[in-house]
Amino acid sequence: MCPPEHFTVEYAINPWMDTTVPVDPALALKQWHLLRDTLSDLGHAVHVLDPRPGLPDMVYAANGAFSVDGKVYGARFKFPQRAAEAAAHQLFYAGGPWTYADPEHVNEGEGDFTYLPGAYGGLILAGHGFRTDPAAHAEAQEVLGRPVLSLKLVDPAFYHLDTALAALDDRHITYYPEAFSPASQRVLRQLFPDAVIADRHDAEAFGLNLVSDGHHVILNTEATAMADKVRAHGYTPVLVELTELKRGGGSVKCAVAELRP
Ligand code: ARG
Repeated sequence: MCPPEHFTVEYAINPWMDTTVPVDPALALKQWHLLRDTLSDLGHAVHVLDPRPGLPDMVYAANGAFSVDGKVYGARFKFPQRAAEAAAHQLFYAGGPWTYADPEHVNEGEGDFTYLPGAYGGLILAGHGFRTDPAAHAEAQEVLGRPVLSLKLVDPAFYHLDTALAALDDRHITYYPEAFSPASQRVLRQLFPDAVIADRHDAEAFGLNLVSDGHHVILNTEATAMADKVRAHGYTPVLVELTELKRGGGSVKCAVAELRP
């Protein structure tokens, strides 16, 4: 995670960003600390990246890389405003027992990749359409040695995979079907007939932008209907207020890069 010390909305690269509405920096920081403490209290180790001035989106740490089995597929951001974030993440992995691969193709890390260790022996789901280049899906498969399932996003409001789909545990997902092309919806129905289906209201509340440890599902406080859905499927929702991060077009998941050693 990376604290929103330099967080602002000074450019607009997704439909949620409105440069005319100021963010409340103190509130953003307070909400971020609560999210970090929530993860720690649930027993998870949280590593913190040093925020850098001039990188207002660095709080969305999920976009900086994607790791599976101790291998790291680095990010290459689509927009120049975020390009320098990738090196900060690379430096973090260089300090640990990771094998880091520099990407050739544009990809925004866990924003567009997620991993299901218990599905089909270990399956990566990947999004394209707005940020990540489909060529990066094949590149990730070569780097990580796991099958990558390509899914096409079609609604600009849900520009990263993690705004439209989430892993609830090792093999179960939740997603908002209409965020995907008809063919990708068909693929998801075929492979995940037991998925928890979200609706537009859930997606707009950033209810799919969640972090789950397989038991606890961390959601932002606006996603109350999504909380009810996951509870009905046996998970325990944990709600954290993240109103300021939504102004940049992100929520819980965007703020957390999961480490898979
Ligand atoms: N303002 C950031 C951007 O548009 C938000 C990134 C949200 N992160 C995510 N994992 N969806 O790039």
